Amino acid sequence: MEKTIALIPGDGIGPDVVAEGVNVLNAVAKKYGHKFNYKNVIAGGAAIDKWGKPLPQDQLDICLNSDATLLGAVGGPKWDNVAPEIRPEKALLGLRGGMKVYANLRPAVMFKQLKDACPLKDEIVGEGLDILIVRELTGGIYFGDRGTSADGKTAWDTEKYSWEEIERIVRMGFEFAMNRQKKLCVIDKANILNSSRLWRKVAETVHAEFPEVELSFLYIDNAAMQLVRNPRQFDVIATSNMFGDILSDEASQITGSIGMLASASLGVGGPGLYEPIHGTAPDIAGKDLANPLATILSAAMLLRYSFGLETEAKAIENAVNSVLDAGYRTGDIAGSEREAVKAAGKLVGTKKMGQLVVDFINA
Ligand code: IPM
Ligand code: MG
Repeated sequence: MEKTIALIPGDGIGPDVVAEGVNVLNAVAKKYGHKFNYKNVIAGGAAIDKWGKPLPQDQLDICLNSDATLLGAVGGPKWDNVAPEIRPEKALLGLRGGMKVYANLRPAVMFKQLKDACPLKDEIVGEGLDILIVRELTGGIYFGDRGTSADGKTAWDTEKYSWEEIERIVRMGFEFAMNRQKKLCVIDKANILNSSRLWRKVAETVHAEFPEVELSFLYIDNAAMQLVRNPRQFDVIATSNMFGDILSDEASQITGSIGMLASASLGVGGPGLYEPIHGTAPDIAGKDLANPLATILSAAMLLRYSFGLETEAKAIENAVNSVLDAGYRTGDIAGSEREAVKAAGKLVGTKKMGQLVVDFINA
């Protein structure tokens, strides 16, 4: 097939890792007889430097007119003091809202090869962790009514959800659960918030269509605790924009694989947005030190969810596993074995890591 992919390298290590994502996509295209065309998009700090705003409409349009978008990372201390309306993060919100990608899939998986990096005790982790967070992405307090009083002494933001906004998220949660452990946990603050009580009502209603799935509810505070106390109780989690933001960082950290985790943001039929969950790591930008695997795995999600190319997606994921099995590590995932990895000649940089994945795809 022939497809167009918008690339947003962004800031910091973004360009380093997106370059490797593209190398891997090209290897897949060659092996399986596809053609991927790329369109470059400037967003985030890079766009602030160039045009004084983080996401000009024409850049967003390139994404809207492509079949999918692959993003590195945006932001960095350089733009810490710009006005709130033009912060690099606004590029992300503009992309999410503009592309109407209302559901954010954040798989928190532990790579067994990197088990040592997991901060939890062995008896808690057992055979590994595999949690899928489905986070609402274009509503709630991130997009709700907000303001600051004239005297600057009062400020507010609003958590507001409609039945439809909730329904499409919990439905997606149920659908994913059907192909996994058949467990869905909706996380909210229904002991306090009206909007959370609506989440529960919608989830219970949609549950009737998925009787095989075990539905449970947890309050956000308890869920944050349960994630470190007994993470294996979770299969799929569905939650609001704000709670999903917080829980997905926690979930990624407990896997010990933060440099490895991918994400997909999906809407109705339109192009999806794919990005590693890590940030811009400006201190190592351009130094061939960043781990490109999360971006490479995001490219796999792109092939799976936007193009329906399951075999190709699996080929990338298998290649990543093979590279890890073979003992290759970037600095961030070498952990306590760093010296041994180095002595074995397997401590590699961004480019080499990308090339290894390509080699395994071609093997
Ligand atoms: C994330 C990030 C963003 C969010 C920020 C950078 C706006 O934390 O993707 O989780 O809060 O959604
Ligand atoms: Mg976050």
